[in-house]
Amino acid sequence: MSGADGFGSHSGSEASEIPPLMRPPVPPERTQTSEPLRFPTATAAAAERDDQTASETLQQPAPQAAPPAEVVLGPTGRPTPDFPDPRPVTLPRHARVISMCNQKGGVGKTTTTINLGASLAEFGRKVLLVDFDPQGSLSVGLGLNPHQMDLTIYNLLMQRDVTLEDVVVPSGVDGMDLLPSNIDLSAAEVQLVHEVAREQTLQRVLAPAIEQYDVILIDCQPSLGLLTVNALTASDGVIVPLECEYFALRGVALLKTTIDKVQERLNPRLQVDGVLGTMFDGRTLHSREVMQRLVEAWGDTVFHTVIRRTIKFSDSTVAGEPITTYASASGGAESYRQLAKEVLVRCLDV
Ligand SMILES: Nc1ncnc2c1ncn2[C@@H]1O[C@H](COP(=O)(O)OP(=O)(O)OP(=O)(O)O)[C@@H](O)[C@H]1O
Ligand SMILES: [Mg+2]
Repeated sequence: MSGADGFGSHSGSEASEIPPLMRPPVPPERTQTSEPLRFPTATAAAAERDDQTASETLQQPAPQAAPPAEVVLGPTGRPTPDFPDPRPVTLPRHARVISMCNQKGGVGKTTTTINLGASLAEFGRKVLLVDFDPQGSLSVGLGLNPHQMDLTIYNLLMQRDVTLEDVVVPSGVDGMDLLPSNIDLSAAEVQLVHEVAREQTLQRVLAPAIEQYDVILIDCQPSLGLLTVNALTASDGVIVPLECEYFALRGVALLKTTIDKVQERLNPRLQVDGVLGTMFDGRTLHSREVMQRLVEAWGDTVFHTVIRRTIKFSDSTVAGEPITTYASASGGAESYRQLAKEVLVRCLDV
């Protein structure tokens, strides 16, 4: 990876702007706070019951006022809006290019690319997935054999006589195509360093696809190197999948700095389309606290949709298909359909 232009010259372990997760000391007396987010926990419910019992023994029961209408909070601690059904597709097509980006490994970038793409395709959008990771997980996750690929995105990037049509393959999902990748792509990172306009290479080769698709999703590798900078330069938006686990919060500030630098120097239209909590486990206080920190730090940039932890995702990867077809009625499939609706409302159907 090149540190040129100040991109990617940091390691992922730098300090995050998100404060550490520390539980506040328990106050000596129970006081009314204005804290906006209260998660129903077993202990909190028990404490409330205890309070009730205490006050009932001390006071005469007052006439019961009608309880206020209960606001149902979603997993992010905010009320979840109803997302409308997607609008019909309008022609001519003009794709929004969205990168799945997080330099931390194993946070759900590839899983989100496959399943968000498949859900958008279910809603009638024409989708192109770009495997921009030399690990080739996106291609493998859609059933391709990395050793049996004639042409990959590497050839498209490095050989002038190779066209988009030469490399694009069907993904197995109606309405969704794939630009595959394998380990060859790792050589591009080194070779591109010597190219003129090296950061714009992916943008240049994707240009003919813009009028052919409604959405182009780029699956980035877990690094902030030149390939990722290429992806960000080619994109209109970034989705940051983030595992609901405390260490996942570290390094988000560094990712934001990289996004800001690309926006400032290379691609002024780049926006953060959303931060997506993945591998959420609503039974653990830890997952809920991480989600709360995320919303405190990123506000409404955090998607209302969260993706819960379930083994079905690994199973569908082994099967080489999206969860939306492998286990169409599962909670995981439904979550990605809801994410697709949220993405459409937020940045596609606007
Ligand atoms: N919501 C989930 N619940 C359970 N397992 C999940 C979930 N999402 C992803 N996984 C599993 O976690 C692993 C890592 O996911 P994935 O490959 O999508 O992450 P990644 O960010 O693309 O990783 P890398 O940085 O290596 O490219 C995979 O085995 C995947 O099946
Ligand atoms: Mg991946």
